[in-house]
Amino acid sequence: MSPTKSSADVAVVGLGRVGLPLALSFADRGLSVIGIDNDPARLGALQAGIMPFCETGAKELLDRVHGSGRLTLAEHVADGARARHIVITLGTPSFSHIEIDMRDIRSALDDLLGALTVGHALTLRSTVAPGTTDFVAGYLAKHRGFQIGTDVFVAHAPERIAAGRFLAEIDTLPCIIGGVGARSGEVVAELFEVFDAPIVQTTPVQAELAKIWTNILRYTTFALPNLLMMDCERHGANVFDVIELINRDYPRGGIAQPGMTAGTCLRKDFAFSEERSNAPGMLLAVSRVNESVPLFLLEAVKRRTGSLSGRKVAVLGLAFKADTDDERDSLAHKLVRLLERELADVAVHDPHVNSPTVSLEEALEDAEIVMVATNHSEFCEPATLELIGSRCAANCLIVDPWNCWGAGQVFAYASELAALSSGR
Ligand SMILES: NC(=O)c1ccc[n+]([C@@H]2O[C@H](COP(=O)([O-])OP(=O)(O)OC[C@H]3O[C@@H](n4cnc5c(N)ncnc54)[C@H](O)[C@@H]3O)[C@@H](O)[C@H]2O)c1
Repeated sequence: MSPTKSSADVAVVGLGRVGLPLALSFADRGLSVIGIDNDPARLGALQAGIMPFCETGAKELLDRVHGSGRLTLAEHVADGARARHIVITLGTPSFSHIEIDMRDIRSALDDLLGALTVGHALTLRSTVAPGTTDFVAGYLAKHRGFQIGTDVFVAHAPERIAAGRFLAEIDTLPCIIGGVGARSGEVVAELFEVFDAPIVQTTPVQAELAKIWTNILRYTTFALPNLLMMDCERHGANVFDVIELINRDYPRGGIAQPGMTAGTCLRKDFAFSEERSNAPGMLLAVSRVNESVPLFLLEAVKRRTGSLSGRKVAVLGLAFKADTDDERDSLAHKLVRLLERELADVAVHDPHVNSPTVSLEEALEDAEIVMVATNHSEFCEPATLELIGSRCAANCLIVDPWNCWGAGQVFAYASELAALSSGR
């Protein structure tokens, strides 16, 4: 086997929300990059200089990189072998029966297998279940006879950025690298050293665990206030008052705020631990709490208003979190579906997402109930509250689990909310 002759520094396989900003960032640091995606529409958009989704600063970066000629696009994974470094940023969903779905990664490996030569370095940037990096290394050793860590290099370098903060966090969040065998960690570090973030070397399985448990921690952190919100409703208490009582001057940590906790990562990454858990069901219960927030809100509304049949409900927000256009696995969609099953007349407004929605004015016009599903910054302005006052039905019910307007009430009537938020 002769060493690889590379025509590019790095190939990024999967130009999604992780892969595209990463490919652009590598190119912006002077590397020659092959960006690979099997979606022709995505490649076409990029050729035309169009960002296929919103990520802060990414459009300016795309414009810069376009001009530099340092990014070439390709459709076939095997083209990745033209670069010395191959970084996999494909999706890793979970099957509904609590097991990682590695089909995209397996298929990319099979496409690459025949093209890999001595000197190639394969980095898994996707979030994976513990043991996956060793599986990938074992797969290459088994099918090609490579010594991993000396002939060919394999590592996990998990992506830990939050959507919308990619370009800031790529230079600040410590870059965890778990390399297989003698030199994989060192070789992959040479690639990620183009960024300013500190590099932390560890074992592959520790890198995998660190990533999924980062997300498990967040998912659990938000399940607790969500469960508390439900407990407060049962006992006639105010969740924001209880949170204030818990947190005020308490020196041993505090509780987070409630909300519609979801999104493509939090909602599936816990399954990568749950598939072999020593406490089966514990994280499923966390997921169950977060997943039941829309139903909890809907039932609490019905307790206050009676049947929703034929009543207009305005839902503000479809994205899974504030100020993003990412609707994947958003609980707002679940809320809309549940409301429709109650025969409510649902009107949705979201200024960020691709799904078609009506204007804010149209959504609010004569609405009897307003539900804030996403705490987008523009919703949290006093002007939105004023618009609710002028457009909605008299004294409509406002549901705000995010405490958008600082009124400290999950459920409040418009007049009450306006008074409370101006008083705080
Ligand atoms: N989105 C996030 O904020 C985030 C953050 C940290 C980690 N992650 C992890 O990163 C990984 C990627 O997530 P994402 O949100 O970027 O996914 P994504 O779905 O946005 O991107 C995947 C891309 O891969 C392409 N693709 C699929 N199969 C392909 C194939 N066979 N060949 C070439 N291209 C193919 C798709 O067209 C898509 O553009 C996942 O493991 C995810 O859990 C995501």
